[in-house]
Amino acid sequence: MSDRVFIFDTTLRDGEQSPGATMNLQEKLRLARQLEVLGVDIIEAGFPASSPGDFEAVAEIAKNAGPDVQVAGLARCAERDIDLCWDAVKFAKNPRIHTFIATSPLHMEFKLRKTPEQVYETAIASVKRCASYTPNVQFSCEDFSRSDLDFVRRIVEAAINAGATTINLPDTVGYAQPEEFAAKVRYVIENTPNSDKAIFSAHCHDDLGLAVANTLAALKAGARQAEVALNGIGERAGNASLEEVAMALSVRRDYYGLVDNIKTEQLYPSCRLLSIIIGQPIPPNKSITGANAFAHESGIHQDGMIKHRETYEIMTPQSVGRTSTNLVIGKHSGRNAVRGKFESLGYSLDDQQLNQIFDAVKQLADRKKRLHDEDLMALVQQEIYRIPDRLKLRHVSVQSSDSGGVPPTAAVLMDVDGEEKSGAGFGVGPIDALFNVISDLVNRQPELEQYAINAVTGGMDALGEVTVRLAENGLNAVGRGNHPDIFVASARAFVDALNNLAKREAQGRRVHSQDS
Ligand code: KIV
Ligand code: ZN
Repeated sequence: MSDRVFIFDTTLRDGEQSPGATMNLQEKLRLARQLEVLGVDIIEAGFPASSPGDFEAVAEIAKNAGPDVQVAGLARCAERDIDLCWDAVKFAKNPRIHTFIATSPLHMEFKLRKTPEQVYETAIASVKRCASYTPNVQFSCEDFSRSDLDFVRRIVEAAINAGATTINLPDTVGYAQPEEFAAKVRYVIENTPNSDKAIFSAHCHDDLGLAVANTLAALKAGARQAEVALNGIGERAGNASLEEVAMALSVRRDYYGLVDNIKTEQLYPSCRLLSIIIGQPIPPNKSITGANAFAHESGIHQDGMIKHRETYEIMTPQSVGRTSTNLVIGKHSGRNAVRGKFESLGYSLDDQQLNQIFDAVKQLADRKKRLHDEDLMALVQQEIYRIPDRLKLRHVSVQSSDSGGVPPTAAVLMDVDGEEKSGAGFGVGPIDALFNVISDLVNRQPELEQYAINAVTGGMDALGEVTVRLAENGLNAVGRGNHPDIFVASARAFVDALNNLAKREAQGRRVHSQDS
């Protein structure tokens, strides 16, 4: 058996379908490009039959993907899904159709309302349809970990005969335990007569916090594809985290004896990019990428580190792309230095984009002495990768107060559909005052579902990164804003969320008119 493990990234499919992780087309393309730089083998770009937006995103990612990466789309075992999936992925140099059907008694009886024989027939007919389009077909037995293994074995054998070249065995509900999961995967591989004709894969969810452990256990048992997502995002508690699986395979190569194509120094930039795009901060204690993952606080640990780094550090921050010397760009940096810096972060900017970002860098450098990679990535995300907005914030002024006499006050100047508008008002706090004034100016009253603030980098002059989630008329949208002044960052995030809400409404109208 080969020792090569294929990394199948599902951030843009299973990850993107999780609450609060919605991305626009530009953001998906940007992330897909970074996944290629990171060295993933397969990008699962979306579920084309689920919406016109998903179809377009998968097709665009496929068109833009290079020759070293495969682009997969998801399809239920249904003719329309498979046809749409192929229509979207076919633009890729290496397209893959990933089709799935549930095989557990619970799912077959209550969700699909099909007998096992009907599921078997549907699965095989679907794999044949996929194989009529491409030789690169992946078949998944949804809810594998709660399925009858002899039924799985039978359906897998027939799927391989029908043209499947990858067989995915998911722990869809995050129920399995590592040794048990490994034993099930091993059983299917060892008892399927033609298992040598396919690569077996694990796709694990984190409901019991075991997604990474189960994925690694499956690799140890003979699976050679790991389905993972950056920051572990995905349905409910998420998928196995790409960065954790990759670093376990790298740090414990002695134990697993497996190799992959991941450039581990790209892990942190990739996870950070996703965090900025979806506005979900990385928790400080998160393995590999959290702010504390390489911090040593206790005296005993610090003493050990000074004497010999390996006493308390099993990998270096540099090996996952966290450099302590990432300070390069400042007030006096020239255009070439800025371009070079962005290139080193994986962004290749054209001249117009460079001009746009150069001015923004200078403005930020006027306020902030040291610009870190995180600041620059937040800036490029905000300035370049966004769809034109209906609402634009121009100026914000806020007065906070600790006395009942003068309530907190905010004044705002902004463009609403090209028209300049201004207003002032009060609130229970300065942020409330700001949000009230902006809501009045745009004539909307959304509900604030979530407000979070995070310091992008350490230090007193850290960039404040605010994320808000708004809901109105059954739709919700996330917005992000960053600025050294947290009130300006808050106003930007609020306006960003309003713009995203408007885009979602417009998209809803588009989908509706296409349906009718
Ligand atoms: O969790 C799951 O079973 C899935 C399948 C579609 C692979 O996401
Ligand atoms: Zn899943």
